[in-house]
Amino acid sequence: MKLQILFLLSLASTANASWSKNLNYRSPSEHHPSLGVSISRVVKRNDPSSSYDAAALNFTHGVASGDPYPTSVILWTRVAPESENSNSNVTVSGYAPLFDHANERYVSVSKSPICVEYKVTSDKALSAMVDSGKVYTSSDVDFTVKVEAQNLKAFTTYYYQFAVCNSDNKSPTGRTKTTPKPDDDVTEVSLAVYSCANYPFGFFNAYGNIVRKDSVDYVVFLGDYIYEYKNGYYGWGDALARIPLPNKEIFSLYDYRKRLATYRTDLDLVASHQQFPWIVSHIRKLPPVWDDHEVADNVYRDGAAELNNTEDSFLKDGGISVDQRKMNAVRAYFEWMPIRQVDMDDNLRVWRSFSIGKLIDLVMLDTRNYDRSITDLYWNTDYINQIANDGGRSLMGSRQENWMYRTLSESAKRGATWRVIGSQIVFSHISREALDQSGGNGLNLDAWDGYQSNKNRTLHHLYSNNINNNIFLAGDSHASWVSDLIWLDKIDYDSATGAGSIGVEFAGSAVSSPSPYGENITLATANKYSSIIEGSNDELHWQDLFYRGYFELHFTKDKVNANFFGIPDIRKKNGWEIPLANFTVENGANRLKRPVAGGVVESGSLKFGKMVQNNLTLDTSNGKWFDSSSV
Ligand SMILES: *[C@@H]1O[C@H](CO)[C@@H](O)[C@H](O)[C@H]1NC(C)=O
Ligand SMILES: *[C@@H]1O[C@H](CO)[C@@H](O)[C@H](O)[C@H]1NC(C)=O
Ligand SMILES: *[C@@H]1O[C@H](CO)[C@@H](O)[C@H](O)[C@H]1NC(C)=O
Ligand SMILES: *[C@@H]1O[C@H](CO)[C@@H](O)[C@H](O)[C@H]1NC(C)=O
Ligand SMILES: *[C@@H]1O[C@H](CO)[C@@H](O)[C@H](O)[C@H]1NC(C)=O
Ligand SMILES: *[C@@H]1O[C@H](CO)[C@@H](O)[C@H](O)[C@H]1NC(C)=O
Ligand SMILES: *[C@@H]1O[C@H](CO)[C@@H](O)[C@H](O)[C@H]1NC(C)=O
Repeated sequence: MKLQILFLLSLASTANASWSKNLNYRSPSEHHPSLGVSISRVVKRNDPSSSYDAAALNFTHGVASGDPYPTSVILWTRVAPESENSNSNVTVSGYAPLFDHANERYVSVSKSPICVEYKVTSDKALSAMVDSGKVYTSSDVDFTVKVEAQNLKAFTTYYYQFAVCNSDNKSPTGRTKTTPKPDDDVTEVSLAVYSCANYPFGFFNAYGNIVRKDSVDYVVFLGDYIYEYKNGYYGWGDALARIPLPNKEIFSLYDYRKRLATYRTDLDLVASHQQFPWIVSHIRKLPPVWDDHEVADNVYRDGAAELNNTEDSFLKDGGISVDQRKMNAVRAYFEWMPIRQVDMDDNLRVWRSFSIGKLIDLVMLDTRNYDRSITDLYWNTDYINQIANDGGRSLMGSRQENWMYRTLSESAKRGATWRVIGSQIVFSHISREALDQSGGNGLNLDAWDGYQSNKNRTLHHLYSNNINNNIFLAGDSHASWVSDLIWLDKIDYDSATGAGSIGVEFAGSAVSSPSPYGENITLATANKYSSIIEGSNDELHWQDLFYRGYFELHFTKDKVNANFFGIPDIRKKNGWEIPLANFTVENGANRLKRPVAGGVVESGSLKFGKMVQNNLTLDTSNGKWFDSSSV
């Protein structure tokens, strides 16, 4: 104890810097304290006589913000003596020895921590100071810094910057925005919705386009921020010089850190984090929705696709237990993402809701990791087919299910105009016959279709309580799907008018992960399959398999406009995008506005409408339109 006090006193030049205000020393979960870093042990280990030269430190991965509240927002950066990640294992010993990369060994005494100061201002020139502070970082948290900017005004834009204390070594300037207070009557809010970014498959141009257009308030991310595979297993990065490091399947804390760091070298991803708060969350919960690949493929509550549901198989997964691997993934994700510590009371739950004024309640589900029953693990597809309609199956676990129903009811009661349900996976039914005819490869059993009773209970809750204006969002499928939300075979539905529908579903394509029909599918083949799939599902109004991309949602009290964008070329870095289709949902209508998409789309298959391929492409980097089919 005495030692620590002496040590802290000796840091006179960085007086008032705080360890604990760097949130990354904490556990990602209040209820998993062993995932935190023991600050007293870190303090003891550091050598106060030896410090880093400020000029030798780098802000290696830009800045980021996220989890906006009405009065605060999370700010992130990383400042390190090298771009290499820390090889420390927090969970082994409560603190982390420093790895000396030059000599390939762990050292028990390390240089003194890095003091980082931050300021938050209301102006871009960084002069009108609103909040500031000083914190430490060290190898124990992979030199990441995460602080909560406080005393902010609701629904207001702020700018922020980090610097090595008492030096000119500064980070880039970031921009962020708080959310409105739950009772604020905001007139307009826009979200960009993303999922499924796979580094070796291509450039993350989609992330950068909203920066160049400056078209939204917040980014909502629906899962698969990283993939856990080695290069060549899913994604071939050699030709693009995009090798996902470390080049192996990832298991250890170091592996997850390194993989996240590699993804965060994509300049469009860096730019998106620098300009927009990534949503998400409302009350202390982790991570912005999290699909399966941040941990491992097709995770369910007792394991993952590459394991079988047996005790033995849990114990060893790349030499470490599934639990340890999950913890490593969570710890690294917590260090690298601008997210708050969560109140994960059990099973690393990440579901939560989020109010954006009176306009929107965003209900973020965890349909991946929390508590779902056995899923399609590829070898058991027939079995899952047989039990998909079993009443006892849950995608979410009963606690999360009940929480969702309660949250939706409370949202309707408080009079929020729109209920936006962020599920990772597609909710609407997709006919198996259509998938088979089009050579589809089991797209849907890992989605809500494999959990029919959970789906029925959700629809029952919405219909029987007259809960209106429901917008389901999904990612995961690497294709676009726009549907009226219906209870198939239970409530009469008229495809032409939309009568009988209780909302809509907007499911978006991937940032770069390939079409489920193959990376190199031709436009003509993709559109042929889309028309088979669209044609055999009454409620599915638009489907596209060809384009990688994202969508924007523009909310007002009267309506929601959804704009889908396709990225014509992810094999090089560019700012191109093609507006694919636009949809409107009017307040109280609970269905897509007719004629759906105005009767015409650029790609895919539109029910009651046509596809006119004009190839008009916007170059978001200069605002000019051109014909991308000629390039
Ligand atoms: C920091 O960045 C500069 C300029 O980008 C580079 O020359 C230097 O090698 C970097 N230092 C480290 C330790 O990575
Ligand atoms: C951390 O974990 C990795 C992989 O599990 C292991 O190779 C390494 O030796 C561990 N480091 C420490 C300091 O325990
Ligand atoms: C899991 O079980 C299936 C079916 O018995 C078998 O084909 C597969 O090899 C097993 N996988 C592992 C990792 O044990
Ligand atoms: C769900 O509802 C459908 C009607 O849409 C019905 O056919 C099916 O049996 C129900 N399944 C369960 C498990 O409730
Ligand atoms: C798709 O095409 C690219 C470029 O020609 C090639 O490198 C890649 O291997 C192809 N992918 C598949 C799955 O055939
Ligand atoms: C969709 O709206 C955008 C404007 O946001 C417009 O440029 C584009 O032409 C529209 N696309 C279609 C297919 O109607
Ligand atoms: C758009 O490009 C496609 C494929 O290259 C071509 O078939 C089509 O004719 C083009 N459309 C127009 C309006 O030029």
